[in-house]
Amino acid sequence: MRRWIKLSIWALAGLAVVAGYLVMRPPKMAPPREIRVAATPEALARGKYLYEVVADCDGCHGERNWGKHLAPVVRTGAGFTFPAEMGLPGRVTAPNITSHPEAGIGAWTDGEKLRAIREGIGRDGRALFPMMPYESYRHMSDRDAEALVAYMNTLPAAPDRHPPTAVDFPVSLLMKSAPAPVEGVVPEPAELGEYLVRMGGCADCHTPKERGAPVAGKEFAGGEVFRFGQLSVVSANLTPDVETGIGRLTEAAFIQRFQEHRETAGASLPAATQQNFTVMPWLQFSQYSSGELGAIYRYLRKQRAVENKITVHPRS
Ligand code: HEC
Ligand code: HEC
Repeated sequence: MRRWIKLSIWALAGLAVVAGYLVMRPPKMAPPREIRVAATPEALARGKYLYEVVADCDGCHGERNWGKHLAPVVRTGAGFTFPAEMGLPGRVTAPNITSHPEAGIGAWTDGEKLRAIREGIGRDGRALFPMMPYESYRHMSDRDAEALVAYMNTLPAAPDRHPPTAVDFPVSLLMKSAPAPVEGVVPEPAELGEYLVRMGGCADCHTPKERGAPVAGKEFAGGEVFRFGQLSVVSANLTPDVETGIGRLTEAAFIQRFQEHRETAGASLPAATQQNFTVMPWLQFSQYSSGELGAIYRYLRKQRAVENKITVHPRS
């Protein structure tokens, strides 16, 4: 009897050590690079394009007018706390990433910014919640990442402060395995379509998820539900399936589908309704060149066709 009690005390102590280790364990990280990014006119222009179009950073970090169709950005980089109805595991804030020294990240070094964006580590060494797409951005070329930071350094300082991210247990523990240092040189992409699909987070919205993890075999098949206030929208099937995906869409029609929103961008937008509500970054992606959109189309057409019928605008 005594012996059993002793043994279970040891077992409990062992468990406590394991639990303590999991809680205290820092994420995988390397020190930030010592670098000052070059702010050449070319780098600033490329950085702006990456920020506004290719990676649509303001999709999450911008202050947007959610009352209007396509939720245009009102103030860039000012930060946003996601509403509870989105069903995230806890309170999640995409912070102010403007050059404001206290409210934003103006006091961070360029190396700390690069590390947060591509490696998922905050200035204080914590793991960032991987809704911040650093697992995709780790493939961002060195040249692009440095151009992006050069442009971010010019974002007008916004004084906005938001409640910090507080992720619920157990996701708060599990997410510590997401960050990882970027090793060596990240070259320019070999395959443009794949690169743009990654940087644009297409799979983040178009691959359905169960308990936060993408459903295997349903890559790009659509069906993720997005709720904002009273409105909701479901992501479309982007696989080459003929009946339920983009199988019937020609490359020219695909390109047109994006570029028609170039007109919308300058016009005054109607109110958001259940029939038009969307989180698809049409305004931003309308700025892609035809060459870039063609590369995206051809990449998507190479994916496995998945039959998955979607009603993107459900009745409520
Ligand atoms: C899908 C939404 C989303 C997109 C797109 C996104 N972010 Fe984030 N980002 C977040 C969230 C959420 C956090 C906060 C995570 C946390 O606090 O754990 C974050 C954190 C950050 C941080 C750390 C800030 C801090 O104060 O700790 C930086 C820097 C950052 N993002 C830059 C960018 C840049 C640059 C882009 C575009 C290339 C971008 N993000 C695109 C959601 C996003
Ligand atoms: C923030 C989430 C989000 C991101 C990121 C996103 N999409 Fe979407 N997308 C949606 C939603 C929701 C819809 C359905 C509503 C609509 O058509 O606007 C949609 C619709 C579409 C459609 C229309 C399909 C059809 O049959 O009408 C295409 C094409 C598309 N997305 C392509 C892309 C590509 C390519 C990317 C990446 C470069 C991408 N999306 C990134 C959410 C997203």
